[in-house]
Amino acid sequence: MNKVIGFVTEKGGVSKTMSSVNMAHILAVSGYHVLFIDLDAQMNATDMLMIGTGYESPCYTNLLCHQLKSADILYEGFIYESNFDLIDCIPGSPLLKDIIYEIHSELQEKRSVFTCLRRNIELVREDYDYVVIDTNPGDTTLTRCAICACDGVLSPIKADNFSFSGVTGLLQTIIGLKQSCGVSVEFMGMFFADVSLNSSGYKRVREWYEENYSSYILPVAIRHSVQVSDSTLKYLPLLVACKRHGTTDDYIKLVRTLGLIDDAHNERLEKYLAPRKAGGSQRKGNIPAREVSADNVGSQGGSHG
Ligand SMILES: Nc1ncnc2c1ncn2[C@@H]1O[C@H](COP(=O)(O)OP(=O)(O)OP(=O)(O)O)[C@@H](O)[C@H]1O
Ligand SMILES: [Mg+2]
Repeated sequence: MNKVIGFVTEKGGVSKTMSSVNMAHILAVSGYHVLFIDLDAQMNATDMLMIGTGYESPCYTNLLCHQLKSADILYEGFIYESNFDLIDCIPGSPLLKDIIYEIHSELQEKRSVFTCLRRNIELVREDYDYVVIDTNPGDTTLTRCAICACDGVLSPIKADNFSFSGVTGLLQTIIGLKQSCGVSVEFMGMFFADVSLNSSGYKRVREWYEENYSSYILPVAIRHSVQVSDSTLKYLPLLVACKRHGTTDDYIKLVRTLGLIDDAHNERLEKYLAPRKAGGSQRKGNIPAREVSADNVGSQGGSHG
């Protein structure tokens, strides 16, 4: 399988980090070996995955602007074990704020700087089933390096009036980079995140997207839930913080809808989810139906499921 997937949006605060961390974790729980790359100076994903692990900030200039010589260099100076089984991580750092200027100045010399990260990932790619990249918001030289490193790009969007302004820009950027850098990057689609399914605003905005970007809209929406911000307080992915929850199910459905989990790994994921069957809930399609019970209403707010 082996795929590099990036979460990219020009708009900030639309769930890139929550989505990338939770997707990486669902893949790992399913038995896939995942390399997570945090390319955001805010390093929220690094906090979620690596809190307390004592990592050091890698040299981003070498990772993003120069061709590294061997996989060993990456393993020795860039890649760390995370707090979660089967997830390794190249951590983020506030230093990433300055790297955009370095990439920009390298760019004056060689356009191929945009593909350095891709070529460096290539060195370790065979060791992982998936590489997941979280990016900073905006259209910067750093996000362009990230896009060029990807086989596929995913974009979470919010159900508001501002999200769509960046979508056209992102699609054009991807087309431009494919042409100018000769990379093969697929736009895997947009999905609504952090939404209230029954709100008229969400329904209206979804309709607008379906009219204007029908081929790009994924048939999965990630519901708003207080459990998501709570999970960040515990530095835990949703599947650990609240296995039995509607928003967790939404992320599982997203990963399955994208066809990222084959039958054998799906079995392993089902096994991890298995205790949920103990209550006797019936399964419909891929996603288990949720029984409303004191167990999941009391502790999880009861607004989803
Ligand atoms: N489904 C959800 N329900 C509730 N809150 C959410 C949900 N998804 C994301 N959030 C919250 O919204 C905020 C923004 O999410 P996140 O940090 O993932 O966005 P981002 O796109 O990575 O932001 P940035 O562009 O700044 O990197 C966070 O506080 C997060 O906890
Ligand atoms: Mg983020």
